[in-house]
Formats: sequence, structure tokens, C-alpha cells
Amino acid sequence: MQRLSSQLQQSNTPPELVSLIDLIAVACKDIAHRLQQGAMSGVLGSAGEENVQGETQKKLDVISNDLLKDYLLASGTVRGLASEEEEGIVAGSDKGGYLVAFDPLDGSSNIDINSMVGTIFSIFKAPATDAVSEQDFLQPGRNQAAAGYVLYGPSVMLVLSTGEGVQMYTLDQRIGEFVLTVEKVAIAKDTKEFAINMSNQRFWAEPMQRYIGDLLAGSDGPREKNFNMRWVAAMVADVHRILCRGGLFTYPWDNREPNKPGKLRLMYEANPMGMLVEQAGGLAYTDTGPILDVQPEQIHQRVPVILGAANEVATCVAYHAK
Ligand code: AHG
Ligand code: MN
Ligand code: MN
Ligand code: MN
Repeated sequence: MQRLSSQLQQSNTPPELVSLIDLIAVACKDIAHRLQQGAMSGVLGSAGEENVQGETQKKLDVISNDLLKDYLLASGTVRGLASEEEEGIVAGSDKGGYLVAFDPLDGSSNIDINSMVGTIFSIFKAPATDAVSEQDFLQPGRNQAAAGYVLYGPSVMLVLSTGEGVQMYTLDQRIGEFVLTVEKVAIAKDTKEFAINMSNQRFWAEPMQRYIGDLLAGSDGPREKNFNMRWVAAMVADVHRILCRGGLFTYPWDNREPNKPGKLRLMYEANPMGMLVEQAGGLAYTDTGPILDVQPEQIHQRVPVILGAANEVATCVAYHAK
């Protein structure tokens, strides 16, 4: 049985990064505990406030954010952090070597229906500057030192990449530790499964309309095979399914709100998931090319996302080039 920290210590991961990942794991075990208590500890429902993106915060969005912040800021390894639930960046220790961007609770509309949610994180090396600023975070996802998520499902799982493939760990509740359960994740190049919120169909651009139309046409259409569809409404759970059994996931550009190109956020949703998917042999694209090559302009910027099985993502992207 390989525990998370001993597995990381044996890899080429720098010791400071090992302790940072370990700390994120501890914070997420604490979040998992609060989620499990559910209605019994009064943590369900809305917090009555809006975050910087205009979404109504759930109590657990705020609780998870505060927990992660407290653990990370106390550690001395973090120079600064950025979160979906924080308007600006939060300064950490001057001596900290890393920057962390996170989505404390992804899929928060699932909280009150006791369905899957997760925590997504992205770690960069902190540039050698005197005082941390938002500018320090605006690095392409290609620079990520590590990325991952914790999925709070029937089992609690930590899925991680430090640039040497993707590993999955499962929380062994008896000993309170994440143990290695999948050593090397690989996404099959072809698939017959896709994930998209179909209710937004009328808002998509024409190439996405055509691509999804051809998938729905099944064996009678140009793709000459039948496709299955899934949508959990938590990116973390949809991407987890893709890492486990393949598929394509997209939250495309749509014309509902002209200033918001897509729904998902680059720094703490698209980038970390992009790294995991590429490290597992898949592709992760936005409208301009690979997600990991996007030069960020703001910490809360949104991007269209198409990721998963390499051949299927390439096919979808090719519809957009026509
Ligand atoms: P969050 O709960 O962190 O705000 O993220 C929700 C995101 C993502 O997890 C999911 O894929 C998507 O929103 C679901 O969107 P729909 O409401 O359109 O299904
Ligand atoms: Mn949200
Ligand atoms: Mn999210
Ligand atoms: Mn969230």
C-alpha cells in the first residue's frame, strides 16, 4: 500500500511541493468530513452572498474556501493564492515557493441534492518578485508545477499530476490517508461518449451545433456510430469519468452573455483539468488552441473548453476550422 506522501517522496517532486500537496490533501479531508455531515451540521443551502462572478455562494463554497485558505496560509509554502470565491489574490508567506489557484467546491449546485462535488487546484512556482501580485499568477497552464482535484463521491479520491503522468489515490477512511489506487491513467484515443449541457444548444456557435448534431445522428449520420451522453453538472465528476473510461467533455462558447466566452474559468478549472487530460494522453482545447498555451489576462477569466479523447477532440476542433 503506497500512501500519497511516500509515493511523492519517491518521485522527482521537490520536498516543498510534496508538503504543499500533502497540505491540500489534509484540507480536502476536512472538506470531505463537512460534506459527509451534510444536513446534520447545518452546512447545506445558500450563504446569501454573491461571488465576483455573480454566482450565489452556497454555505459550503464559503466553508471550503475558508478551510483551504487557512491551511495554505498557515503553511509557509504558499506565496499567494487565488480562488473562485475571492475577488483578488490573497498574499501568503514571503518565503513561500508556490502559487495556488483553486476552485474550493466545484459543482456546487449538486450540494443540496447530495450529488458529486470536488475541489480543483493548480500550482505554479512563484516568480522571484518582492511582493506577490495578480500578475505573478498570469502564467500559461503549461507552467503548472502540479494540478489535480479531489472528488467527493462514494469514495473520496485525489487525482494528481506533477508532470509525470496522472495518478489516482483513494481515501482509506480507516487510516485517514490517501493511498495509490491507479498508477498510470490513460485516456483511450477514440470514444462513443460525450458530455455537454444540451439545454444550451440554441446558444452555441454553428460548428458546435453541427458537431453535436452529427453525434446525435448516430449510426445513420456521418459519424456512422451511436454515441452515449452523460452530464453530472460538476466538471470534476465529468472529467473524472473521462479519465476512468474515456469520452469528450465540452463547455463551449455560447452567446448567452457576450462578455463571458464559455462558463468555465481558466485558472482553476480549465488549466488544471487541461494538465491532467494531456498527462493522461488526451487533448484539452479552447477556441484558440491548446488550453495550456493560453496567456491569461485575468485570474477569473472564462474560456470555452473541449477536452478528452485525443481523436474525438481533434474531430470536434476540425469542425470549427471548416
Ligand atoms: P462551480 O460550482 O465551481 O461554480 O462550477 C460549476 C461549473 C462546472 O463544474 C460544471 O461543469 C458546470 O458549471 C455546470 O454548468 P451547468 O449549470 O450549465 O450544467
Ligand atoms: Mn461557483
Ligand atoms: Mn467549478
Ligand atoms: Mn466552485
